[in-house]
Amino acid sequence: MKTVSEILTLSTQYLEEKRVVRSRRMAEGLIAFVLGLKRIELYQQFDRPIVESEQERVRAGLKQLGKGCPLEYILGEIEFFQCRIQVDARALIPRPETEILVDHIVKRMQGFSHKTLWDLCTGTGCIGISLKKQFPSWSISLSDIAKDALELASFNARLNEAEVVCYEGDLLAPFAGKKADLIVCNPPYVASHEYFTLDSSVRDYEPKIALVGGSLGTEFYERLARELPEYLNPGARLFLEIGALQGSALKQIFSSPIWCKQELCFDWSGRERFFFLEMQQLSRVSS
Ligand SMILES: C[S@@+](CC[C@H](N)C(=O)[O-])C[C@H]1O[C@@H](n2cnc3c(N)ncnc32)[C@H](O)[C@@H]1O
Repeated sequence: MKTVSEILTLSTQYLEEKRVVRSRRMAEGLIAFVLGLKRIELYQQFDRPIVESEQERVRAGLKQLGKGCPLEYILGEIEFFQCRIQVDARALIPRPETEILVDHIVKRMQGFSHKTLWDLCTGTGCIGISLKKQFPSWSISLSDIAKDALELASFNARLNEAEVVCYEGDLLAPFAGKKADLIVCNPPYVASHEYFTLDSSVRDYEPKIALVGGSLGTEFYERLARELPEYLNPGARLFLEIGALQGSALKQIFSSPIWCKQELCFDWSGRERFFFLEMQQLSRVSS
């Protein structure tokens, strides 16, 4: 019978041969999942024998990883800002950058109660659900055009006992006649010609509708700049995740004077990944 240490080495070698990126990390994640351990615990139980049925499950997972399937889809669940988020092919896998976005919002909005927030393009619902856990008094709605993604978001809301409302529809269409104080949106922002340059594990497994944002990748931001003002209360704030090279385009897109504050923020590696806006207190939606 092989030990954790031996299976880890063999699994890493297999994934390296299949050119899987971060092969050691992937092997650790898979083996820890099969054994019901945390990754760190693998190193505390290096000599633990792995029985045949466990080896069989590791082998099956390795085959999927070898074909490019993201580890998260094999695990079926991730931790996102202290919430359990189920993930599957219905929605984009939440990225670490998006946790940074939530962290920015939490830090900026401490002490603000009873706000109305819409999480547009919600996917798994990770942003809106984690914010509801941080700000229980807020009224939070999640929306997405993809019915199956929204079903997953609803499931995740129940899983986390987060009382949010889910709407299906194109961007702001589900909110006709309503107004919000806060909007958060991580829309599709890959330019259509760049789609084919994405890693095959992204292209082959994650929904295209979650990735491509028109020919330049900025279609959703342009739509928000045009369509949002009539949906916002005076002084409303907008929190966007953006592509690493989209900062200057975003400044241009949101150059109307109704936005009295603009702020470009960075991820841990110093790339421009977030764009925050504040609407002026006096609503001049015609500007
Ligand atoms: C980049 S994913 C973001 C998912 C999630 N918010 C996250 O941060 O992990 C973009 C999401 O936008 C949704 N979407 C695409 N086109 C849309 C549209 N026209 N209106 C609303 N949602 C849309 C996709 O279904 C997908 O779930």
